Amino acid sequence: MKVVAVYSTKGGVGKTTAAVNLAWEASKEFRVLLWDLDPQGAAGFLLQVKPKKVKGGVGALVAGQSRVSRAIRSSEYDNLDVLPADASYRDLDLVFDHAKKSEQRISKILEQIDREYDVVILDCPPGAALVAENAVFSAHAVVVPLVPSPLSMRSLDQVTEFVSASVSKARVVAFLSMVDRRKTVHRDAVKNLPGGQTSVSHVLVPATVQIERMGTERSPIGSYAPTTEAARAYGELWTLVAKVVKPRARKRKH
Ligand SMILES: Nc1ncnc2c1ncn2[C@@H]1O[C@H](COP(=O)(O)OP(=O)(O)OP(=O)(O)O)[C@@H](O)[C@H]1O
Ligand SMILES: [Mg+2]
Repeated sequence: MKVVAVYSTKGGVGKTTAAVNLAWEASKEFRVLLWDLDPQGAAGFLLQVKPKKVKGGVGALVAGQSRVSRAIRSSEYDNLDVLPADASYRDLDLVFDHAKKSEQRISKILEQIDREYDVVILDCPPGAALVAENAVFSAHAVVVPLVPSPLSMRSLDQVTEFVSASVSKARVVAFLSMVDRRKTVHRDAVKNLPGGQTSVSHVLVPATVQIERMGTERSPIGSYAPTTEAARAYGELWTLVAKVVKPRARKRKH
C-alpha cells in the first residue's frame, strides 16, 4: 500500500480539491482509499459520502477500540472508498498527543487495511500540528499545492523542512494550483519556478470555474468535465505521483 499525503502549512490552496481528484485518477487503476483528516469534512462532501456513526469517533479508532474498516464507505466510483471526517476529528491533535508514539498512529491504523488498498490519499488540514506529523510519517509522497506567490513558495520550504525533520522518507511533489494567468505575479511565478531541493513540478492547475463547480456537482472534475485543462492537469499530477510512489495493483475489487 502506498500513502500520499496532500498537505500544506497554508489553508485554502487546493489541498482537498487535489486529494479528491488524485484519488479519482488513481482509482482508474488501483484500489484507493481517500481519508479525510479535516473536521470540515470537505473531501467527503465533494464525493457525496457521509460519515458513519462509530462509537467513540476517531478517538476509539486511534486507541485501537474500533476497526478502521467499520468507518469506511464506498463512493459511487469503482475502487474509490472514503473514510470521511466527522466532528470528532476536531480533537484529533489532542487524541494523538495522548497516544504513545503519537506521530505513528495513522501509520498503525493503516496497517489494518494494508491488503485492502493499493493507494491511500490523506487529505490533511492546514498547519503543522500532530495530524500533519502523522500524515507525513506514514506517507511515501507529500503533495503540496502552491498558489503562485512569494508567500506560498515559503510554505513549500516549510513543508520540505517539516518532512526532513521527520524520519519519513517521503518525497515532496509540489505543483502550481489555482494559477490565474491574468495576474502578473502568477505569470512570473510560473516562469521562475525554483529548482534544487524545493523543486516544483511542471503540473499547473489553472484557476477555473470548472473546478469551482465541484462543489455543486459533488464529483471529481474528471467525471463531468474530462477534457478541460484542469482535469488533464490532475491526470498529469497523478501520473507524476505514481512515478514517485510506484503503487502495485493487487486484485481489483470490481
Ligand atoms: N484551480 C481552481 N480554480 C478555482 N477554484 C479552485 C481551484 N482549486 C480550488 N478551488 C476552490 O478554492 C477553494 C479552496 O480549495 P480547497 O478546499 O481544495 O483548499 P484546501 O487547501 O483544502 O483548503 P483548507 O485549507 O481549508 O482545507 C474551494 O472553494 C475550491 O473549490
Ligand atoms: Mg481542505
